Amino acid sequence: MAQSHTDTSSDVVWQDYAVSVSDRAVLLRQQPVVLWFTGLSGAGKTTVANCLSRQLHEAGFQTYVLDGDNLRHGLNGDLGFNAAARHENVRRLAEVAGLMYDAGLITLAACISPFQADRDFARSRIPGGKFVEVFVDSPLALCESRDQKGLYRRARAGEIPDFTGIDSPYERPETPEIRIDTSAQSPTQCADAIMAYLRGRDLLRWPARA
Ligand code: ADX
Repeated sequence: MAQSHTDTSSDVVWQDYAVSVSDRAVLLRQQPVVLWFTGLSGAGKTTVANCLSRQLHEAGFQTYVLDGDNLRHGLNGDLGFNAAARHENVRRLAEVAGLMYDAGLITLAACISPFQADRDFARSRIPGGKFVEVFVDSPLALCESRDQKGLYRRARAGEIPDFTGIDSPYERPETPEIRIDTSAQSPTQCADAIMAYLRGRDLLRWPARA
């Protein structure tokens, strides 16, 4: 759990790797990027991240989706949903996203990540300009009315404590790189908008691809 995490890194010497991030970029012919999708449960983070991942994959890019729900079945299976557990959940996702970045991938992390400080931590692990915070915005009432997993109903019934938007806070991003409105745009339109952003920032360009 978060409270028992002990940082012993000051007693450990960093070992340099023989293959660098830029070596991998040359081999893969792509720039690594982390796209961090944040938003309420049911807002559409997973759907849009997967739609975008598919588009990028079909365009020849190496991608990987880190989905909060899925990681809670393994790496984060020991964590619950109080504030400390969410900090730890997002910290681990951020660290894994950092490793994926180092591996040269275009990484799409999709988790509620309700606290700005935790999202800022995730950003701090990635070089400037290569971290793209995507606010998947959808009104709580709409997420609740969709209730694809039946979790809002159970949260309202008091069966799931600390539910985001019900009795646990969600801090809206103040200055995300991208805000998408899933109440007004289809998943494909959202993915197209993110693609356009990436192209506009020259993040998909590689000389050998031109
Ligand atoms: S985060 O807040 O720590 O980033 P994460 O994205 O990993 O959350 O997991 C959220 C998913 O867990 C939701 O999509 C939902 O399916 C499920 N879930 C179960 N309990 C809760 C809860 N109390 N609050 C929010 N989501 C929950």
